[in-house]
Amino acid sequence: MGKKITLSVIKADVGGFVGHSSVHPELLETARGILGGSSLLIDFHVTHVGDDINLIMTHELGRNCGEIHQMAWDTFLSCTTVAKKMKLYGAGQDLLSDAFSGNIKGMGPGVAEMEFVERKSEPVIIFMADKTEPGAWNFPVYKMFADPFNTIGLVIDPNMHQGFDFEIRDLIDNRKVTFSCPEEIYDMLVFIGAPGRYCIKSVYKKGTDEIAATSTTQRLNLMAGRYVGKDDPVLIVRCQSGLPAVGEALEPFTNPHIVSGWMRGSHHGPLMPVSLKDSNPTRFDGPPRVVGLGFQLADGKLHGPQDFFDDPGYDLARQKANEIANYLRTMGPFEPHRLHLDEMEYTTMPDVMKRLKDRFEKLD
Ligand code: 13P
Ligand code: 13P
Ligand code: MG
Ligand code: MG
Repeated sequence: MGKKITLSVIKADVGGFVGHSSVHPELLETARGILGGSSLLIDFHVTHVGDDINLIMTHELGRNCGEIHQMAWDTFLSCTTVAKKMKLYGAGQDLLSDAFSGNIKGMGPGVAEMEFVERKSEPVIIFMADKTEPGAWNFPVYKMFADPFNTIGLVIDPNMHQGFDFEIRDLIDNRKVTFSCPEEIYDMLVFIGAPGRYCIKSVYKKGTDEIAATSTTQRLNLMAGRYVGKDDPVLIVRCQSGLPAVGEALEPFTNPHIVSGWMRGSHHGPLMPVSLKDSNPTRFDGPPRVVGLGFQLADGKLHGPQDFFDDPGYDLARQKANEIANYLRTMGPFEPHRLHLDEMEYTTMPDVMKRLKDRFEKLD
């Protein structure tokens, strides 16, 4: 067996430019400078979607490697210093602690990592979203790996026909469960249809530990116990040769499904597929958006990116997303544009209720 490569994507929002719309180029340069000077990495690519910095890194040190996590943490700290100097918005927003404790998980930044032996050809896609939450991937990942109307390979490719195992995380009770699909899709949909709580963490080739996809699944607001911005998740998908073709992995995004996280993390909106240059959410701080970058890996080298949604093939999806956005916006402060009370990232309800409590009269 060949040697294992680890692909680590670690992301954080350490200050928006301007507001919550984008990342200042100086922060990206700072991150590139630090990763470029590291002897731990085989290769890296620093990018952003909206106001979130994404460190895409390859190495041979495995998942949950303390040194890699430390370097990512230090990189975000240095970027925060630059952000504070410029008084960028929410500088240091996602760094929940002052001190690094060995593993970046649970400290604010999002982490998606996979370890595998490179195949003869290793196409991967890194999906990165802004103004939404980890559960936003449930719908597209289900479509990619379990829906034959999306992925014809499930029907006609002998290497895919057996299906996939889905690891689901319960973000509230902090537990996991694995479903074997297609046999258990009805059971699985009971859970993943509730993306605010149950998220697809990873997908494996059926009955093996061969990783096919993995995502960031932390919920910042649960970790911090207060509103600290949305989690703006990342998803890594390996493609081809017994896994979804690149086009099958991209296809779910032609239907802009509705996700939570728009404006103040408290509204529903359509997830719009966009190119990197269009990845800065401005309209009502949105609508939520997703970028898909393709890389061919070769001995850990990242050849790319290919900016997949920079394609007129997604123009209609974008138009539909804008129409859905227009329609939802007409509802203003009403649900279901506004999130349900339990899901609001912040609210004036307790204060207003306290002030008005004597005006409420009991009814028999
Ligand atoms: P593979 O079986 O090599 O992944 O090819 C499938 C394909 O690319 C169809 O679009
Ligand atoms: P971010 O989570 O992307 O920082 O956005 C927060 C927000 O409140 C946007 O309106
Ligand atoms: Mg922000
Ligand atoms: Mg963001």
